[in-house]
Amino acid sequence: MSDDRVLRVGLLGAGTVGAEVARLMVANQVDLAARAGVGLVITKIAVRDLAADRPGIDPDLLTTDAMSIVTNPDIDLVIEVMGGIEPARTLILTAMTHGKAVVTANKALLAKHGAELFHASDLADVDFYYEAAVAGAIPILRPLAESLVGDHVERVMGIINGTTNYILTKMHETGASFESALAEAQALGYAEEDPTADVDGFDAAAKAAILAGLAFHTQVTDEDVYREGIRAITADDVSVAKAMGFVIKLLAIAEANELHGSLEETISVRVHPTMIPVTHPLASVREAFNAVFVKCESAGDLMFYGRGAGGTPTASAILGDLVAVARNRNEGSLGPTETDYADLDIAPIGVSRTRYLIRMDVADVPGVLASVASTVAQNDVSILTVRQEGRGADAELVVLTHIATEAALANTVKDLRQLDVVQRVVSVIRVEGLI
Ligand SMILES: NC(=O)c1ccc[n+]([C@@H]2O[C@H](COP(=O)([O-])OP(=O)(O)OC[C@H]3O[C@@H](n4cnc5c(N)ncnc54)[C@H](OP(=O)(O)O)[C@@H]3O)[C@@H](O)[C@H]2O)c1
Repeated sequence: MSDDRVLRVGLLGAGTVGAEVARLMVANQVDLAARAGVGLVITKIAVRDLAADRPGIDPDLLTTDAMSIVTNPDIDLVIEVMGGIEPARTLILTAMTHGKAVVTANKALLAKHGAELFHASDLADVDFYYEAAVAGAIPILRPLAESLVGDHVERVMGIINGTTNYILTKMHETGASFESALAEAQALGYAEEDPTADVDGFDAAAKAAILAGLAFHTQVTDEDVYREGIRAITADDVSVAKAMGFVIKLLAIAEANELHGSLEETISVRVHPTMIPVTHPLASVREAFNAVFVKCESAGDLMFYGRGAGGTPTASAILGDLVAVARNRNEGSLGPTETDYADLDIAPIGVSRTRYLIRMDVADVPGVLASVASTVAQNDVSILTVRQEGRGADAELVVLTHIATEAALANTVKDLRQLDVVQRVVSVIRVEGLI
């Protein structure tokens, strides 16, 4: 094969994902070359530790000098799977200015500096692909950017963090507390020793920003995303939800807000624990699996489901991008570029509308229900159902509201806390998926 029939790849990182990319590029090289129309060869791999054991990787390919890869004229394409903001950002920008296409899985970087990276790839006339950055193996970004680009996305709602979904699945199915479900997830390798990025919703917020940007043709960063994690969810919350026919999931939701009867004056992007009916398609997404539900004006409802993380599934998405770039290069063309033409404003959380489940410890005295109902009504929130659990000192009132704004709900909860008959507002959980 002559040199122009080879696409030379520099790999930044050989950890969980990078090692699998390297392995699969060798194991599947004949098929990949046939599909790409060009041989795909790893020329150099950047790592931190040259002495680490890396089965199947030729030690001669390794370097600790990542900058030498992105400036190397013999490299055509860079796959960035080192993670983090720096040096990944500078390395990607440098690769682009040196005329190299880039494939990355780095959601944290895209959610902070996506606009800068898209602009740099446009200026340099190079491809920039990142399917693996959201929901691992699941093809969701290209469907949004290409297959659905002729439609009007109204809403994207998904389970896009496997660690929290694993924890919530265990809590739902075994009655475990958050702490013990987290400990099990850590023991099985589903959660990091420091679980903050997952359980506090940072990872899901970064992915939500990327999804929202593509769905609504607007620049969205992680700071635009309202975020609540799952640490505050108790075994009691899960058990009340279960008794009412719901399951609690950490959902990422990006949607057009309704204003004066028309959609899309502004968008909302939020990540928070959410109750959904057990009959909702997302309710059956268990353990570390991910799923994204997309509602479009013409296509209607679509759901994408699969493995949202792991070295091999994530490498699958990266190899798909790699072949796409190779094909573009054969044709002398580039893939579609990002567009933020719509430039919609991102609404504050107070504007978002959903239903809520409010759990309260109440005094077991006559008139409690009337006081609670009138306080809720005074805030323009209406009640869908009320349940009373227990009696005496253990009396708990569970109120499910109709759709209301977050601002109205916040005022309602503030006023409920002032009532003598309400001893404590135990929890407020948003509810989606009811018709
Ligand atoms: N893991 C997943 O399931 C998954 C799923 C989707 C997306 N992603 C994304 O994929 C990326 C990689 O994740 P990962 O789980 O594979 O991470 P990882 O296991 O921590 O691997 C990172 C790799 O990058 C190398 N590296 C880090 N900093 C470096 C530096 N400054 N110079 C040279 N090499 C450096 C490390 O070298 P050493 O080996 O020497 O330490 C390691 O090989 C992240 O952006 C992540 O968000 C991961």
